Amino acid sequence: MRGFLSLITCFAILQNVRGWREFSRGRSKGGNLGLPGGDDLVRGEHEKVTTEWFTQYLDHSSPTDSRTWKQRYFVNDQYVNQRRDVAFLMIGGEGEASIQWMTKGAWINYAKKFNAICFQLEHRYYGKSHPTADLSTENLQYLTSEQALADIAYFIEEMNVKYELSPNVKWIAFGGSYPGSLAAWVRQRYPHLVYGSMAASGPLLAEINFSEYFTVVYNDLKGTGGDKCVSAVKQAFYQVDLLTRHMVGQRNLDKLFVLCDSIAGTTSSSEDIANLFETLNGHFAETAQYNKDNRMSKVPNNITLDTLCNIMVNDKLGPEVNRLAAVNDLMMKRNNQTCLDYKYDKMISDMRNVSWGSEVSEGGRQWYYQTCTEFGFCQTTDAKPQVFGDKNDLDFYIKQCSDVFGPKFDLTTLQRGVKRTNTLYGALNTPVTNVIFVQGSYDPWHVLGVNRSKKLSPAVYIEAAAHCANMYPPSENDTQALRQARVQIQEFIGNLLKSA
Ligand SMILES: *[C@@H]1O[C@H](CO)[C@@H](O)[C@H](O)[C@H]1NC(C)=O
Ligand SMILES: *[C@@H]1O[C@H](CO)[C@@H](O)[C@H](O)[C@H]1NC(C)=O
Ligand SMILES: *[C@@H]1O[C@H](CO)[C@@H](O)[C@H](O)[C@H]1NC(C)=O
Ligand SMILES: *[C@@H]1O[C@H](CO)[C@@H](O)[C@H](O)[C@H]1NC(C)=O
Ligand SMILES: *[C@@H]1O[C@H](CO)[C@@H](O)[C@H](O)[C@H]1NC(C)=O
Ligand SMILES: *[C@@H]1O[C@H](CO)[C@@H](O)[C@H](O)[C@H]1NC(C)=O
Repeated sequence: MRGFLSLITCFAILQNVRGWREFSRGRSKGGNLGLPGGDDLVRGEHEKVTTEWFTQYLDHSSPTDSRTWKQRYFVNDQYVNQRRDVAFLMIGGEGEASIQWMTKGAWINYAKKFNAICFQLEHRYYGKSHPTADLSTENLQYLTSEQALADIAYFIEEMNVKYELSPNVKWIAFGGSYPGSLAAWVRQRYPHLVYGSMAASGPLLAEINFSEYFTVVYNDLKGTGGDKCVSAVKQAFYQVDLLTRHMVGQRNLDKLFVLCDSIAGTTSSSEDIANLFETLNGHFAETAQYNKDNRMSKVPNNITLDTLCNIMVNDKLGPEVNRLAAVNDLMMKRNNQTCLDYKYDKMISDMRNVSWGSEVSEGGRQWYYQTCTEFGFCQTTDAKPQVFGDKNDLDFYIKQCSDVFGPKFDLTTLQRGVKRTNTLYGALNTPVTNVIFVQGSYDPWHVLGVNRSKKLSPAVYIEAAAHCANMYPPSENDTQALRQARVQIQEFIGNLLKSA
């Protein structure tokens, strides 16, 4: 028994040590849209949600390939009325689809008001929707946004029949983060199937060198803690850099940041150092991206930009690098990490695992693939003012693509892929109609989204709001601007449903 227990403990520690980071490349483990917070699952409603499977084609672009697979979806039909003429679709994205969204969140409040039948379709290759036997690079060729959009089209046609929806049914799509882009694109591509969309925090512009990401994080910190906060952050990363250059400093870093493997000596590569910097500046990125939102979290969602700035300006904690270490302690404690894993080769070998049973199959590997082939989104620390160190340049990110997927996945491939994405969808110039675009100012992703109203597609830019903030259930602490945005979205949907 003792042996068994210590085996479990050992396994748990191993998982924490070797585990993929909670946040990496602007993506949270499990996907960027969190779970809806607030009250517990609504009794009597949740039990009526069903889980179903849809037979989907593997390759929508091949006339001769008839292979199929099972795509997971959830249905909630308890708010729909006899007319059955309103259908809401929550588009799944770069993580497992969650049944919790089927009875909670702003879209459910809209569904109750407009008597919609609610569907959520899990994105191919994420969660339990497995089109292929494993995640080999060869198999991932069917993981594209275009295939995902065609999945949605076939799905809608089938649901119209299966759930006996009205011949006049209007489908409204909802999506947050990457699915926010899909929500806009599905309306653009299949206007005969999708009547309108709510696209939250969707990066419609594909961009390789996404240096503006950290510019927004910088602005958020400055807006929160002023120049004192950002100059302390800058000083801290500068001190880390100095410490990496000599033996005594390296030993210090081992202790300060609770590193799993010693950084001392000649064993650390420049990629290791870059990876350490990315982990540390990721603490600020993650906190900015989700600042003060209403996600559900296992622990109170109480680490905000204020928390980080308060630590960074507190000179009682010692020099700035010690304050950064305190920030690191706080984040590690929240994530139950026992030490900080910064080894580049370890990360790459985890990411190369093609098994559906691997830890990276939660979506880390798949999202990497999509960023290395379609979107870029490399969050370089190149932009000025440079306060998060200068280690995370484009080469660092492109190297990861070829190290994980092979030498063909280089900068040239990505340039072609990003050009293709922007050409096929039109990036920020898409003339799509009936879409409401929603962005939050805290959210670094807002830079790649539509923030100006177009003809028939309004944009809502919410001051002091985080990534997808409008999608979570309302909370008593929401800003007036966020409340107003939810009302505006409801009115927009109401007008769509009223129009002929
Ligand atoms: C957040 O809440 C946890 C649990 O209540 C508490 O231990 C922790 O100190 C809080 N953190 C902050 C930064 O307020
Ligand atoms: C950390 O561990 C605690 C206690 O085992 C658990 O309740 C919590 O969900 C864990 N947090 C994370 C982020 O895994
Ligand atoms: C991939 O992950 C699975 C599940 O964790 C593990 O059993 C397997 O050994 C890993 N494969 C490699 C090549 O590391
Ligand atoms: C990325 O963008 C930043 C800011 O515009 C720029 O300074 C840097 O040179 C760019 N990097 C590359 C490799 O183009
Ligand atoms: C709004 O989008 C434009 C590009 O369409 C961009 O130049 C501008 O910086 C954005 N505004 C904000 C506040 O992000
Ligand atoms: C609102 O903020 C107060 C003060 O920070 C906090 O005590 C309370 O729990 C918050 N309410 C919700 C629903 O988060």
